[in-house]
Amino acid sequence: MGDQKTNEAYAELMSKHAPSGEISDLAQLISLKGKRAIVAGGAGLGLGAAVSRRLACQGAEVAILDVDGPRAAEVAAEITSAYGTRVLVVEGDLSTAAGVEAATTDVFAQFKTVDILVNSLGGGGSGDFLDQSLDDYHRILALNLLSPIYLTL
Ligand SMILES: NC(=O)c1ccc[n+]([C@@H]2O[C@H](COP(=O)([O-])OP(=O)(O)OC[C@H]3O[C@@H](n4cnc5c(N)ncnc54)[C@H](O)[C@@H]3O)[C@@H](O)[C@H]2O)c1
Repeated sequence: MGDQKTNEAYAELMSKHAPSGEISDLAQLISLKGKRAIVAGGAGLGLGAAVSRRLACQGAEVAILDVDGPRAAEVAAEITSAYGTRVLVVEGDLSTAAGVEAATTDVFAQFKTVDILVNSLGGGGSGDFLDQSLDDYHRILALNLLSPIYLTL
């Protein structure tokens, strides 16, 4: 039932924006102009950079927060050159509450408000379960579990 409603709503949007039945540009459907987004882990080659790029493509201003500052700067430069949107880069360790506090303070100083948060960091924990130390597990949990909580709160 929910799927049917979603399909009907989508069909209505399709007919409104592309009467010929063709949707050539997703930006026509979803505009994020005037919105401001944080992408934590936004330099990530798997998901983060792609999410940052897509948000900018839809018109949002994006703050890329990542421990890898140089890679974040590369992604930001590429996005700005492609879409002309403002992209902030904030380098920092987001696995600690203090790191998140410092990074988000920087963002709010420039953006004033934030509309969208994408938690896209993570990683660690390669190798056998029994070969990891307790410290490794604390680090893995801090990054993958606590960091999104710090960022969301
Ligand atoms: N890529 C996928 O297909 C996929 C699928 C499902 C889930 N995920 C999950 O989504 C998350 C992101 O995936 P990805 O493929 O983009 O990973 P990625 O390794 O490409 O990117 C992770 C980003 O997080 C950053 N980062 C790591 N530790 C950090 C820290 N302490 N502080 C700040 N930034 C830090 C890295 O520098 C990197 O840019 C991961 O948790 C992953 O497990 C990924």
